[in-house]
Amino acid sequence: MKDKIKEIEEQINAAVSDIQTSKNLMEIKMKFLGKTGEISALMKNMRDVPAEERPSLGKILNALRQRAEERFASLEEKIKKAELKKRYAEEKIDVTLPGKDMPDGAYHPNTLVRQELISIFSGMGFEVFEGPEIENDYYNFTALNTPADHPARDMQDTFYLSPDLLLRTQTSAGQIRVMENKKPPIKILSPGKVYRSDDDATHSPMFSQMEGLVVDKGITLCDLKGMLDEFAKKIFGSGVKTRLRPSYFPFTEPSVEVDVSCFECGGKGCRLCKGTGWIEVLGAGMVNRRVLEGCGIDPDVYTGFAFGMGIERIAMLKYGINNMKLLFEGDVRFLKQFKG
Ligand code: PHE
Repeated sequence: MKDKIKEIEEQINAAVSDIQTSKNLMEIKMKFLGKTGEISALMKNMRDVPAEERPSLGKILNALRQRAEERFASLEEKIKKAELKKRYAEEKIDVTLPGKDMPDGAYHPNTLVRQELISIFSGMGFEVFEGPEIENDYYNFTALNTPADHPARDMQDTFYLSPDLLLRTQTSAGQIRVMENKKPPIKILSPGKVYRSDDDATHSPMFSQMEGLVVDKGITLCDLKGMLDEFAKKIFGSGVKTRLRPSYFPFTEPSVEVDVSCFECGGKGCRLCKGTGWIEVLGAGMVNRRVLEGCGIDPDVYTGFAFGMGIERIAMLKYGINNMKLLFEGDVRFLKQFKG
């Protein structure tokens, strides 16, 4: 037994000198001091030792256990310290290094104009309604007083998905959806993407429009003009005036083209207004009786006006952008200029 105790003590000494990590230490500790470890096994063997030898052997064994515990404890402390030091060294951060550059983004000019328009018109009591981009022929044309053989269909080059489905060419399609579902008073604003087979410096096959519709008792062209004056001043500056020119849209009667006085030259004539002093900004008119009737609204009781404008066009005018493609290319050098 004594020999065994000595042997174990030597084993512990040998093992301890090899220990490098706390994981390793735990394993060795368990091997000797654990419940099923070597020292516990010796303790169990005490039962077989003659009674007179037990006290002295017991003492020796307890002393061994105590020494082992102390050795492991002091080693554990040493190893933990070393490991912590190593971890600190590895995870050291240099607080004097410059931070990573996180450039902040900016709203796209189209988004800026859209937000500004929504804010101006919601200030006048308009609610936003967004219709679908894929429309039935009925909503985009027929219900807007443009039946299949109507020459006005040629005003817009339409992308058809099937004989009945198309990519909407105008947000006016949303007017019908609103009037079918809501009875007057109606005051809605309908922003969204529209599609036409058209492509040059001032046209794109996909662009955005903002439609407005007001229907109530006693609405006149004067209401339209007054509201547009207010809108033009807010978006282009307090000095601008508006004028209405006769025009044609199948779903409005009378129809007008709305110009604003050139905010660049004050109306004297410059490159922006092509020397005319006026800039065309939108189409509008009084809602055609047939359109109201088709939506179940009595045109002898109610009247209304509608207007529609191209958001890219407004953005180009407002920010002096000469090519519409700049609005779709996503070039950061261009977009950076709109940082608030
Ligand atoms: N939908 C017309 C267009 O796209 C614009 C418009 C809207 C005209 C509402 C009159 C009334 O050209």
